[in-house]
Amino acid sequence: MATLWGGRFTKSTDQEVFDFNASISFDKRLFSWDIAGSVAHVHMLGKCGILTIEEVTAIEEGLQSILNDVNEGKLEITSKYEDVHSFVEANLIDRIGEVGKKLHTGRSRNDQVALDMKLYTRDEIDGVAELLKELEHTLLTIIKNNTETYMPGFTHLQKAQPVTLAHYFSAYMEMFLRDSDRLADIRKRMNYSPLGAGALAGTTYPLDREMVAKELGFTAATSNSMDSVSDRDYLIEFLSALSVIMMHLSRFSEEIIIWNSNEYRFVEIDDAFSTGSSIMPQKKNPDIAELVRGKTGRVYGDLMGLLTTMKSLPLAYNKDMQEDKEGAFDAIDTVKSCLHLFDGMLKTIKFRKEVMEKSAMMGFTNATDAADYLVKKGVAFRDAHGIIGTLVLTCIDKNCSIEDLSIEELKKISPVFEEDVYEAISLKTCVEKRLTKGAPGTDAINEAIRRYEALLS
Ligand code: ARG
Repeated sequence: MATLWGGRFTKSTDQEVFDFNASISFDKRLFSWDIAGSVAHVHMLGKCGILTIEEVTAIEEGLQSILNDVNEGKLEITSKYEDVHSFVEANLIDRIGEVGKKLHTGRSRNDQVALDMKLYTRDEIDGVAELLKELEHTLLTIIKNNTETYMPGFTHLQKAQPVTLAHYFSAYMEMFLRDSDRLADIRKRMNYSPLGAGALAGTTYPLDREMVAKELGFTAATSNSMDSVSDRDYLIEFLSALSVIMMHLSRFSEEIIIWNSNEYRFVEIDDAFSTGSSIMPQKKNPDIAELVRGKTGRVYGDLMGLLTTMKSLPLAYNKDMQEDKEGAFDAIDTVKSCLHLFDGMLKTIKFRKEVMEKSAMMGFTNATDAADYLVKKGVAFRDAHGIIGTLVLTCIDKNCSIEDLSIEELKKISPVFEEDVYEAISLKTCVEKRLTKGAPGTDAINEAIRRYEALLS
């Protein structure tokens, strides 16, 4: 049991209380950020004349040797210490003696942990942004290769109108690009250094907070000391952005699971990304997509957990806030592995283009275009809708598609039909003639592709 605060106590802490209070089992993840923050802090203490140059050098070398030893496995972060901050300070004093006791001058664990958590989170935002970008590149490749891969688009999970695989995936691209944007926004808003806020009310030492902020890559120092030590908004925003990413991945997973089903057969997931059944020898299951879908709940849970922890907390620091870490770590780990595996699954998936195209040709996905054909020949849309409805009924009766009917059969339902109807309702026309911005037509999707290329370059 090693604590930083024994002075005013006459009795030692109960072991169970110590264990309950301790955070080292999980906050050791912040170790390298704690060192980085401390190094910047002592540099500033030196520059402001609060520590001598010799003291700064001794402390910095001590911190560096602790960092090296932990990285090389020579020093273990054990649960003898209350938290990672205590671990570093105790080891520093062990190594360099009395001068090590000066590290914590003008600092509290409250602004220290706020800094560590921000440094860690900022780095993880960058990590998630990288993984998102990788996925966006994979999507772009698939989009570029499939501008003429026809498939049905759905509403209510019923075939609606034909689209292309490129257009379908471009919808997901838009979602992930918004996710990237959201991360950039959060990073910008959070990038202010809390160090120097002290326990809650700043300090009487003449600290240069902006110097620390600059050394650690922050835009500036935060503006209110009480807010600085008790702000976890950035973490809530990040968890919320992670939840939205998971929601997108989960929807995408659901599509892949449906498309991979025996009934659809639109895609085949690579063997390396599938698993089998212990009893049914024929099975090849889309477990990765299912797990990504399933883990979405857990990330939402992490967000709700932190929101609930923060609710009603009075200013400034309260120990409740130690609970910000495990959920955040869990959400970050989960999203990173989901993004990486989902990307790997997409990179190796096979699209059964003939099956997709055949599916688009059946199920009357060109019914709207058939109605539009009549409208272009002067029929009012509502009447055209009724005529094509009757036509669809006839086709269901005969178990065929609209284009399978002869011109005589078509004319029997409406004399307006002429030979050019077949061209007008062909799959290719239905897709290619959709030229409005954002539609699946060639020009529109090429325009989108150009935008993606510029954004991802
Ligand atoms: N382990 C603590 C946390 O994660 C560090 C801050 C402790 N501050 C305090 N006043 N007890 O929040």
